[in-house]
Amino acid sequence: MSAFDPTAEIPQHVAIIMDGNGRWAKQQGRPRREGHRAGADSVEAALEACGELGIKFLTLYAFSSENWKRPKAEVSALMKLLAHFLKEKTPSLIENNIRLQVIGRTEMLPKSSRTELERSIEKTADNDGLTLVVALSYGSREEIVDATRALMQKATNGEIQPEDLDNELFAQHLYTGEFPDPDLLIRTSGELRLSNFLLWQISYSEIYITDTLWPDFRQPHLEAAIADYQRRHRRYGGL
Ligand code: IPE
Ligand code: IPE
Ligand code: MG
Repeated sequence: MSAFDPTAEIPQHVAIIMDGNGRWAKQQGRPRREGHRAGADSVEAALEACGELGIKFLTLYAFSSENWKRPKAEVSALMKLLAHFLKEKTPSLIENNIRLQVIGRTEMLPKSSRTELERSIEKTADNDGLTLVVALSYGSREEIVDATRALMQKATNGEIQPEDLDNELFAQHLYTGEFPDPDLLIRTSGELRLSNFLLWQISYSEIYITDTLWPDFRQPHLEAAIADYQRRHRRYGGL
């Protein structure tokens, strides 16, 4: 793995499609839920690594709008894991100055997970180190529809006029309104697709796809992604 340069530009915002938990479990002849449990350890490792590297925003795709289609037992195991993780790790979020935020249609989550989420968000609200944004029951198309609905409502109320709409106003109405766009998008486990993740926000993100499965992803893998990022030339359509 090529070493990254800690003195060169570090991405301010890293977004990760944490994929491959099921395949990891299968490789070991274990049930899928054990892959998800191992994936939670990778989340913890990623938080530590981001803190160490000075990354300011980490967005993690944890559960998509489409993941509701999975067998009930898997969905329920994932929801339990989420509630358990939040309960157990919130003290360490506080200790490490991490602020938790969430994006997605969280009203669809079971009550227990929602309660833990709200508690954890509230307890970490004043932290000003890393911002951890978890995408839960998240779909980018759903987000764009929700933003459009909110804008239409404001127009109907006479709060805005059609000619007020521009990229900036639109972006403010996305769930990610207050966050900068990701600089670097990482997808683990090798799939070459976006799976309904941050379609608007990654317009000019650098994309890094690795075959490493999410439960195997650790700081050296993140550093390899950053090393790759540091070799890119971001032109934004210019010269
Ligand atoms: C990612 O791992 C976690 C979620 C989508 C919740 P997967 O569960 O998609 O693992 P694979 O892709 O089947 O290996
Ligand atoms: C994307 O992974 C969603 C998350 C990582 C939470 P999926 O495993 O659901 O994506 P597809 O089905 O391979 O596109
Ligand atoms: Mg998958």
